[in-house]
Amino acid sequence: MTMPTIELKPSSNPLSDAEREAILASPGFGRHFTDHMVTIKWTEGRGWHDAELVPYAPLSMDPANMTLHYAQTIFEGLKAYKQPDGTVATFRPRANAERFQASARRMAMPELPAELFIEACDALIKQDSAWVPDSGEASLYLRPFMFASEVGLGVRPANEFLFMVIASPAGAYFPGGVKPVSVWLSEEYVRAVKGGTGAAKTGGNYAASLVAQAQAASHGCDQVVWLDAVEHRWIEEMGGMNLYFVYGDRIVTPELTGSLLPGITRDSLLTIARDLGYTAEEGRITTEDWKRDNENGTLTEVFACGTAAVITPVGSVKSERANWTQGDGEPGEVTMKLRKALLDLQTGRTADTHGWMHPL
Ligand code: PLP
Ligand code: COI
Repeated sequence: MTMPTIELKPSSNPLSDAEREAILASPGFGRHFTDHMVTIKWTEGRGWHDAELVPYAPLSMDPANMTLHYAQTIFEGLKAYKQPDGTVATFRPRANAERFQASARRMAMPELPAELFIEACDALIKQDSAWVPDSGEASLYLRPFMFASEVGLGVRPANEFLFMVIASPAGAYFPGGVKPVSVWLSEEYVRAVKGGTGAAKTGGNYAASLVAQAQAASHGCDQVVWLDAVEHRWIEEMGGMNLYFVYGDRIVTPELTGSLLPGITRDSLLTIARDLGYTAEEGRITTEDWKRDNENGTLTEVFACGTAAVITPVGSVKSERANWTQGDGEPGEVTMKLRKALLDLQTGRTADTHGWMHPL
């Protein structure tokens, strides 16, 4: 298959340096977007075509666009970091490209070649490189996504899709900084079930999570923890993050049962933790294990991890029946060590021994 080359149509009206600098001083998360975006079309029988890097602009959509009705849509999230020598690099973009392909298969969508996914991200970052924040934990968050662009109300896979990449400068996902989050164990609502779409990064999973997130907030909690949909006791993951349980120098993350998202941060930490001398495992943990092992002191720390949120400690847990402080409620030593190791790697302060960084 021939791959389209990305044609550049630069913006004639980018934000001024002063406007951009004002945004970069306090970017928040997902609130501001860079001057350009990538669009690539897919049509049945023709494949991928019309790859363009164009000015960031609204899309015009037919009211009968199939995505608006039946949600055939997937997305990814990855970050570009400024390196000490001033260059820019992304973290494991091929892993995101491959997960995007897996999401596409589950949602009956065409698979974008991994090379084209990476090239599209690279082209946007290069064009809008002035938007990559300079320091510390700040980064440029890339949001590749794809949706059905065919018009019609028949329920079937669309025969036209649009792949896009947009970019947004990102500060901390949780505005309070590294502050432990409180979590709500969702026993009423479930996120996903084996055979469903839980392992795909598709919009419907997030739409379905919002009512539980609101329930968590009504109980004074920051985030939802999802349990398995059958027994309602096996820990799966959080709203946009995977979970790790720290037992002294052994860390355990819920195994990929088919209903949780295979996080790239989760996967990276299995390796980074072993590099640091910890034992790192996939396993199964129930809500009763969590409460008991916290009480008897063997479960020393719990943290969540994901691209947007990096590593965030869990400080307290609540459910309909129980309520406890995790450890002493403060960020734990192992959590903060892993957080530093991950960020040092991503920002080029330590050697990339696993070939995970993709320089532009
Ligand atoms: N779980 C869910 C539901 C997510 O949306 C995310 C974010 O992408 C993650 C886990 C963490 O995945 P990753 O580390 O690849 O960002
Ligand atoms: C990410 O970490 O990239 C996520 O997708 C989390 C959330 C913003 C959906």
